[in-house]
Amino acid sequence: MSRVLVTGGCGFIGSHIVDTLLKNQYQVAVFDNLSTGSIQNINKDKAEFFFGDILSKDLETAVALFKPEYIIHEAAQTSVNRSINNIHFDAELNIMGTINIINICIKYSIKKVIFASSAAVYGNSKQIPVPVNSAILPNSPYGLSKYTAEEYLKLAKDLYGIDYTILRYSNVYGPRQNALGEGGVISIFLNNLISNLRQKIYGDGNQTRDFIFVKDVSYANLKALEVDECGVFNISTSTSTSINQLFNIINGLSSHIFPPIYEPARDGDIRESQLCNKESMKCLNWKPLYSLEEGLELTYRYLCEQNNSLKVF
Ligand SMILES: NC(=O)c1ccc[n+]([C@@H]2O[C@H](COP(=O)([O-])OP(=O)(O)OC[C@H]3O[C@@H](n4cnc5c(N)ncnc54)[C@H](O)[C@@H]3O)[C@@H](O)[C@H]2O)c1
Repeated sequence: MSRVLVTGGCGFIGSHIVDTLLKNQYQVAVFDNLSTGSIQNINKDKAEFFFGDILSKDLETAVALFKPEYIIHEAAQTSVNRSINNIHFDAELNIMGTINIINICIKYSIKKVIFASSAAVYGNSKQIPVPVNSAILPNSPYGLSKYTAEEYLKLAKDLYGIDYTILRYSNVYGPRQNALGEGGVISIFLNNLISNLRQKIYGDGNQTRDFIFVKDVSYANLKALEVDECGVFNISTSTSTSINQLFNIINGLSSHIFPPIYEPARDGDIRESQLCNKESMKCLNWKPLYSLEEGLELTYRYLCEQNNSLKVF
């Protein structure tokens, strides 16, 4: 079976991709510097692990040893806020990191790169749901760095013949999510619920998000390995939920109901986010399988188990 290197494979999304690939008989290696990921997230008996930074020579060492045919590139700086406060760090990791991946692909004749991009590339789009060919108007350095990396990958196809699939994820949630990363609102709300803490809502709470369960995202990555064509796809549910609605659904899971604390809106936050997934369903032969309620139930159960508190959902 094919050999796949997953950068950032110890992280939230990357580790689920690793699980899905292993289940489908791929040979998998993970390259990660464990800055936000955890070694506990992967099955070390089945996936090879290389410790290192995508900005360092360790990346080449791992590729030379493992000899992957494909690279799934998840390692990144993922926080919108951090990108605003440290543009340089964001650009270095997300742009130079991807350029390093491209250089490795040229040198080691990698067949294809699958790249984790983001809804953040669209910024505040006027079209809802946002089609994949919508205007690119990022309103954060993170959105811009993700888009710049996409453009380098497209150029690498033209100049060096390296295939790519770019997957623009909407807000991903599920087990193993670190409450600090992009799209962490569900993880934060569920953790607060379990700890009986009041929820904070930034802005008026009417901002919307397109929440997609992490297993649907990992499955999209599997599908992207299977199709030959290069392309850019939204990986989303094509539905939207406001933060106030989410608050009410999540509060319904518990008998302790505290009103939320409303804080000022944060810079770089998108007002409405709902990505059209028509093209992905057609070209990748993929569709999201989990409803928000199902995904929340699975995530809540996971967190309860982690907290050793056997709560009935
Ligand atoms: N979580 C979301 O909702 C979301 C939405 C859109 C796009 N994305 C993208 O999906 C990808 C995965 O995000 P995630 O939520 O799983 O984040 P995460 O922080 O859980 O995972 C990132 C992984 O990359 C590793 N990493 C970071 N910097 C590295 C470096 N310099 N060298 C090697 N490894 C490094 C971390 O240790 C971690 O294991 C990212 O590219 C992110 O931008 C995430």
